[in-house]
This record gives sequence, C-alpha cells and structure tokens, in this order.
Amino acid sequence: MIEVLFVCLGNICRSPTAHGVFRDRVARAGLSDRIRVDSAGTGDWHIGRAPDSRSHAAAQLRDYDLSDLRARQVQAVDFDRFHYVLAMDRTNLANLQAMRPPHFRGELRLFLDYARDSAVGAEALSSAGLEVPDPYYGESDGFEQVLDLVESASDGLLLAIQRHHKLVPA
Ligand code: 4NP
Repeated sequence: MIEVLFVCLGNICRSPTAHGVFRDRVARAGLSDRIRVDSAGTGDWHIGRAPDSRSHAAAQLRDYDLSDLRARQVQAVDFDRFHYVLAMDRTNLANLQAMRPPHFRGELRLFLDYARDSAVGAEALSSAGLEVPDPYYGESDGFEQVLDLVESASDGLLLAIQRHHKLVPA
C-alpha cells in the first residue's frame, strides 16, 4: 500500500480538499486498493471538526464529497506510515521538516511541486508560488483557487506515483 498524507495548518480547508480530490482521482484510476489517502493539520485548533462549510460547498459543486472527513493533528509517527507527506505551503513544510525523523525515506515536499507537469496554467502556479494559499480568512473565490490548484497537483501526483511504483490502472 502506498500511503499519501496531505498537510495544511487547520486540516479543515486545504488538506481535506486535497484528500477528497486525490482519493477521487485514485478511485477513478482503479487504484483504491494500492493508494491510501489521509490528511492532517500542523495546528490543533480544529481537531475532530468536519471541513469548513465553504470548502465543503465548493468541493460539492465539483462532485467531491468531504463529508466523512474529520480534522486531526499531524504526529511524528505519521512519518513511519506515510510514503508521501505533502505540504500545502512553505510554513507547513518547515513545521514538518522540524518533525521529520532521520530515518524517514519518503517524499516530504510541497504538494504543488506535482502540478508543474500537469495541465494547469503556468500563470496560476507562478502567482501561487507553488503554495496553496490559505483561504480561511479570505474571499470565497479563494476556495475555487484551492480546488483549481489541488486538481492540477492531484493529476501530477497520480501520474508520478503510477510511474514510480509501476502501477497499471485496472
Ligand atoms: P487550512 O485553513 O490550513 O487550509 O485548514 C485554515 C483553517 C483554520 C485556520 C487557519 C487556516 N485557523 O487559524 O483557525
């Protein structure tokens, strides 16, 4: 099993969106029995909460279901389980790098690294600077932007995993 963890700050906006979108891509590729998806936050404020209603609504408009997801905080033991630990922004990445045990051999990087090779417009990526901007205190179009970026990076990540692990879709 290949295990993928998406990490943001609160685990109620960006990383649950990535969780819901990427598991949908995995299911459509017939790879749900090979790739497992989870998400977590570096902060502890929202532990146990469902995704933010604005993230939930934006995702639902594109047919992604986030309703079963509940926030949890990332832990050092996550590095023992997950092969891909993917941060939404550079602050999340720095916090994860500080937690990373020396024996971790997986990929710890920005999620949007995987959007480079996908169909996303270069403009959208460069304006975001390879970060998924935190939409929590912003306007509602921030949630649309999160989805656009997450969809592009999900396509790139699935391809990268399929190539690296030589997975043939069912
Ligand atoms: P997320 O968004 O990291 O994408 O889940 C946030 C959610 C909550 C807070 C900040 C960002 N907060 O400060 O409570």
